[in-house]
Amino acid sequence: MAEQKATNVVWHEHLVKREDREKLLNQKGTLLWFTGLSASGKSTIANEVASRLFKSGKLTYVLDGDNVRHGLNKNLGFSPEDREENIRRISEVGNLFVDSGIITTTAFISPYRKDRDYAREILGEGRFIEIFVKASIDTCEARDPKGLYKKAKSGEIKEFTGISAPYEEPMNAEIVLDADTQTIEEEVEAVINYLRENKVV
Ligand code: ADX
Repeated sequence: MAEQKATNVVWHEHLVKREDREKLLNQKGTLLWFTGLSASGKSTIANEVASRLFKSGKLTYVLDGDNVRHGLNKNLGFSPEDREENIRRISEVGNLFVDSGIITTTAFISPYRKDRDYAREILGEGRFIEIFVKASIDTCEARDPKGLYKKAKSGEIKEFTGISAPYEEPMNAEIVLDADTQTIEEEVEAVINYLRENKVV
């Protein structure tokens, strides 16, 4: 992970703290980390969950791979090093959002276990919920909304996750969704139920 380059920097405690903000918002800042292959449904589910919670009075925010790669991470590609840096930055940004009290959903392939574990580590116990959107390559290829699997198979896109780059499945995800058999509505419902049962909302 990234080295500490800056010297002579000192951490400051702020006057308004996370618990003050959470009291104001009447919610607990939490990072809902969706992981899975491209076209597995991560973004759609992350958006739906955020929207459902928002409608019930919770402040939510969606951090999405394709969008973040247009701004904050526009200088990163898809090499293992760039993916690691992509996820490191999102983990840190996610941590700031959670510190602000917001229920944040992220939708990044995040193919490497160690990078997801980094997010889990910095967020801390009870603040990080890993949600594996499990989908077979066949399902993703059949959907292929952006035509990327086709391009990856013809060699036009290199290092494509699931075709020519690895995806390491989570071993201890809090929630596993089955995109091969469940509908989006069922997947959203499963996430909301987990959050209620575990008193996140
Ligand atoms: S991650 O691996 O670094 O977590 P991220 O979620 O930000 O990836 O971006 C994935 C999105 O970028 C995919 O949904 C797809 O639209 C696009 N993409 C372009 N090239 C690739 C590639 N080589 N591998 C995977 N996704 C790619």
